[in-house]
Amino acid sequence: MAPLLWFLLLLRVAALPEDAATLTRRDFPDGFIFGAGTSAYQVEGAAAEDGRKPSIWDTFTHQVMMTGYSADKSTGDVAADQYHHYKDDVKLMHDLGLDAYRFSISWPRLIPDGRGEINLKGLEYYNNLIDELTRHGIQPHVTIYHFDLPQSLQDEYNGLLSPRFIDDYTMYADTCFKSFGDRVKHWVTINEPNVETLGGFDSGTWPPRRCSHPFGTNCTGGNSTTEPYIAAHHLLLAHASAVSLYRDKYQATQKGHIGITLLTGWYAPATNASQDAVAATRMNDFHIGWFMHPLVYGDYPPVMKIRVGARLPNVTVEQSKKLSGSFDFIGLNHYAVFPTLADETAFNLKQRDYFADGGVANPTKYILEGQNEYAPWALGELLEHVKLKYGNPAIMIHENGYGDAPKTPGKIEYDDDNRSKILQNYLEVLYLSIRNGSNVQGYFVWSFVDVFEFLFGNRMRFGLCGVDMSTAGRKRYVRNSARWYSGFLNGGELRSVSPLSKAYGAA
Ligand SMILES: *[C@@H]1O[C@H](CO)[C@@H](O)[C@H](O)[C@H]1NC(C)=O
Ligand SMILES: *[C@@H]1O[C@H](CO)[C@@H](O)[C@H](O)[C@H]1NC(C)=O
Ligand SMILES: *[C@@H]1O[C@H](CO)[C@@H](O)[C@H](O)[C@H]1NC(C)=O
Ligand SMILES: *[C@@H]1O[C@H](CO)[C@@H](O)[C@H](O)[C@H]1NC(C)=O
Ligand SMILES: *[C@@H]1O[C@H](CO)[C@@H](O)[C@H](O)[C@H]1NC(C)=O
Ligand SMILES: *[C@@H]1O[C@H](CO)[C@@H](O)[C@H](O)[C@H]1NC(C)=O
Repeated sequence: MAPLLWFLLLLRVAALPEDAATLTRRDFPDGFIFGAGTSAYQVEGAAAEDGRKPSIWDTFTHQVMMTGYSADKSTGDVAADQYHHYKDDVKLMHDLGLDAYRFSISWPRLIPDGRGEINLKGLEYYNNLIDELTRHGIQPHVTIYHFDLPQSLQDEYNGLLSPRFIDDYTMYADTCFKSFGDRVKHWVTINEPNVETLGGFDSGTWPPRRCSHPFGTNCTGGNSTTEPYIAAHHLLLAHASAVSLYRDKYQATQKGHIGITLLTGWYAPATNASQDAVAATRMNDFHIGWFMHPLVYGDYPPVMKIRVGARLPNVTVEQSKKLSGSFDFIGLNHYAVFPTLADETAFNLKQRDYFADGGVANPTKYILEGQNEYAPWALGELLEHVKLKYGNPAIMIHENGYGDAPKTPGKIEYDDDNRSKILQNYLEVLYLSIRNGSNVQGYFVWSFVDVFEFLFGNRMRFGLCGVDMSTAGRKRYVRNSARWYSGFLNGGELRSVSPLSKAYGAA
């Protein structure tokens, strides 16, 4: 072929909108929201200030410090100290060009005893933060409950294990809608209920550290075979209760949207053996379907009912009605692929936990060791799955990010090009999924600044912006990835980092 023709062809290819190499934010649907996120316990600090009382995470990090489980002895006592730096942070978001900030309200800061009296200082803090965001044109996307249950409710009735949680949660959510709903138009009831239940009640590696032998160690009580399912049931009912309250009392006037956010990942077969493929499909039903099936169809997935049996709580007719359709959107947090190895020996045990019920080797060990297998293609598989299986709901990607260990702990490190590369690959897949019909409406990088990480303490960093954790002032600095994201948000092109578009069938 003549060189000129080659040249013209190349030009044409480069100009095609479906060529991911030239993707810009204008290729995403109108009104698509780009943001970044954090959560209260992980970012705020000021743990014992202005009337805030402990959550189960304060208790846990302090106990864990004593038993030495967390090698770096980190806690959220100070974290990034956003409580004292929120104005600087909002200015930074504005400078970078974020459309939205995803954060959570700390229940024990707003209602320190879990129910009853409102802490006026807590109310004032969130009013200030929300006002500062709206003044800068940044949408607040607010999670009502992100793991930090007031310790008092844990002590009083075992927290999530009691149906009393549902009423206390609903009253807390009511306070949030009433106080902030004039300005907050995007609410998430609960963050990652599918992880909180496993960490807290199966392995016991998270608060409230409940588990039973042989599924976890060092627990003070618990039953790994039953409690994760009970806690999940109460979280689902609490979610549905808050949504029906919002719809009945607030939505018509406040005109907001409400949903729930799940940890996804993607279970993929670890080998080519057919039983691993079957197990991976099953585990996606356990992991995503555990919550999505009740939310869309009003009951647990058939495969869970069969395999968990009498340990899976029954959904009553009334509960089923309240659960079905109880969301305006679904938030998906996505990081890693979970390599799935079938293990039917586990399923033949008399005492089974969630993973044994699923008939798989527990994959969370990899993740706890920080061996996240980043695989942007898995986001495409996930979105296709959710589209086909659950009626193509509106989706927000609420977390997606890349963690790395500081090279020289305590030193300021700007170079995080690995982070920008990975995020660009994810955005490319996201674009292709949307083009293929997925109803995704927003994307949030985890995290806006470095935070206390629930799985890794300070050992892993996810921030677009760094925080100098070694100084009391917690100075922020702009990493290369924040510069890259800002460039993209201001109209810049994605660099084509890998030919993923081919894998996704783009022209
Ligand atoms: C359990 O406790 C023992 C003794 O304190 C400790 O050596 C071990 O690392 C703990 N295991 C876990 C998983 O925390
Ligand atoms: C957990 O509960 C199940 C069902 O009630 C029971 O059979 C089992 O013995 C309990 N396990 C422990 C460790 O208490
Ligand atoms: C599965 O089989 C394909 C083709 O034989 C091979 O390329 C691939 O590496 C195998 N995958 C695994 C996980 O073994
Ligand atoms: C759930 O319903 C089934 C069938 O109606 C019943 O046999 C079972 O006892 C119920 N389980 C619980 C935990 O209520
Ligand atoms: C980027 O990732 C590669 C491969 O994992 C690693 O070898 C390299 O050290 C990373 N670069 C930085 C700056 O962290
Ligand atoms: C695009 O959607 C169609 C219809 O749902 C599906 O068959 C196809 O596999 C999807 N392509 C990708 C790349 O997800």
